[in-house]
Amino acid sequence: MSEDQEEQIHTTGEFGEKRDNTRGHIRSFVLRQGRVSNAQQRYYEEMMAKVGVPYVAAPHNLDTVFGRGSEEAPKILEIGFGMGETSAAISAANPQNDYLGIEVHTPGVGSLCKLIAEMGLTNQRIVQHDAVEVLRDMIQPETLSGAHIFFPDPWPKARHHKRRLIQPPLIALLASRLKPGGYIHCATDWENYAEQMLEVLSAEATLENTADGYAPRPDYRPLTKFEQRGIRLGHGVWDVIFRKKPAA
Ligand SMILES: C[S@@+](CC[C@H](N)C(=O)[O-])C[C@H]1O[C@@H](n2cnc3c(N)ncnc32)[C@H](O)[C@@H]1O
Repeated sequence: MSEDQEEQIHTTGEFGEKRDNTRGHIRSFVLRQGRVSNAQQRYYEEMMAKVGVPYVAAPHNLDTVFGRGSEEAPKILEIGFGMGETSAAISAANPQNDYLGIEVHTPGVGSLCKLIAEMGLTNQRIVQHDAVEVLRDMIQPETLSGAHIFFPDPWPKARHHKRRLIQPPLIALLASRLKPGGYIHCATDWENYAEQMLEVLSAEATLENTADGYAPRPDYRPLTKFEQRGIRLGHGVWDVIFRKKPAA
């Protein structure tokens, strides 16, 4: 489907603009049908019952969601995990943290379900819903230790920039859900989106940059195959990492 056709769907209201407006924001994604493989379907059905957190417009206690009992672990939220390879690698390498991944695309959710089952991950949960609404309705203020937004859809055409996830209202909402000292980590391979990230996060008064401009890639974010290929071809990748200022 071309971007123009996608925009058409949005503006003609099949699941687009009209519904966006009633929900108060322009969506950062277009729900494509996408092929769900047999394995993704099987793991989706088996695992979402165990690791899926249904979207409900009510504040959730994340300690209860992860069910570690009396032991509490830092909570890291990820927006748009795609096929979930990076999410699974990070949650496997950091069993001391709990990871809540948000994604709308069913093949991707099925793929992360498969990785969770195969790798025996106990610290990864999934919400299949628009992350803006999850943050607004389910996540309580000052409960997150971190947030990952890796390679969000670049929406390269200028007239589609309004669909980009990293916009002042989303960052203000996300910052409100962070504990003081909690971080937001964005990465992109689109230079002008990287500039927008830096600009939007710098303008959020409750956040401060952890670096002088772009940050070096921290070891916890693995290089994706796509990224390795981009680097071989001489393309850039930019990490932007801000921290919530301590409470005044
Ligand atoms: C370009 S992909 C990147 C996936 C992955 N983070 C990676 O690094 O490969 C962006 C993903 O974000 C998801 N997405 C975009 N907007 C979203 C939203 N508002 N809520 C949940 N997922 C979203 C899309 O479905 C898509 O899978």
